[in-house]
Amino acid sequence: MSEPAIMITAADKAEGFASGSPMITPTARTGIKEPREHSDKAEGFASGSPTITPTARTGIKEPREHSDKAEGFASGSPMITPTAWTGIKEPREHSDKAEGYAQFLEQVTYYIEASPHEVSVMANISAALRETFGFFWVGFYLVRNEELILGPFQGSMACTTIKYGRGVCGTAWQRKQSIVVADVEQFPGHIACSSLSRSEIVVPLISEGEVKAVLDIDSDSLAAFDETDRQALEQLAALIAKQIY
Ligand code: SME
Repeated sequence: MSEPAIMITAADKAEGFASGSPMITPTARTGIKEPREHSDKAEGFASGSPTITPTARTGIKEPREHSDKAEGFASGSPMITPTAWTGIKEPREHSDKAEGYAQFLEQVTYYIEASPHEVSVMANISAALRETFGFFWVGFYLVRNEELILGPFQGSMACTTIKYGRGVCGTAWQRKQSIVVADVEQFPGHIACSSLSRSEIVVPLISEGEVKAVLDIDSDSLAAFDETDRQALEQLAALIAKQIY
């Protein structure tokens, strides 16, 4: 489960607003306080804060609050992590990256086949990829008319539209091919949604010869992606495209 974004570094909030940075957190943009800043929780709810955690909103306890883990599972808690519900191990437990992906693909197939809806499948896959592999940013951009629009994602706020042939995503769309970028600063026209992103992989979702969307994954390390990632993520993209398009 990702922590809610907390803006603590903007000494000058006005400057934050002026920068228009997509990386400014919702807290910074809206000025809505985190629930813990409210002495009165009722006031926190009333403020409509998007930063109120699912636990706060649903009243469902974290698994660790259950003395009996079985009870946690039985409660149907959405807070149970993918690791718990899928049995997918963290990547650092895998000595072999390919094996990690193989296990991931096997486990998420159920979630892909469980829904015909583009948004639902992409939302769950973004969450599973980020939580399983710890990627910096994972998301989908969807082809809508002559551009890509931001779809379901996990990570910091990102650019909302990308034109055909622009950036890594638009180029992968144009070429109908995956692109692995070891160093984003070396990719001509790379669109930086975050200055922390150092390497990237973009894999198109293709149906009947047409790109319908792209899967974009960013890492905060250089050269994080290789041929193993490309092959596995292309398998994943094919599985998703077959299900939803
Ligand atoms: N870097 C991408 C833009 C999307 S963000 O990385 C989320 C690109 O160059 O197309």
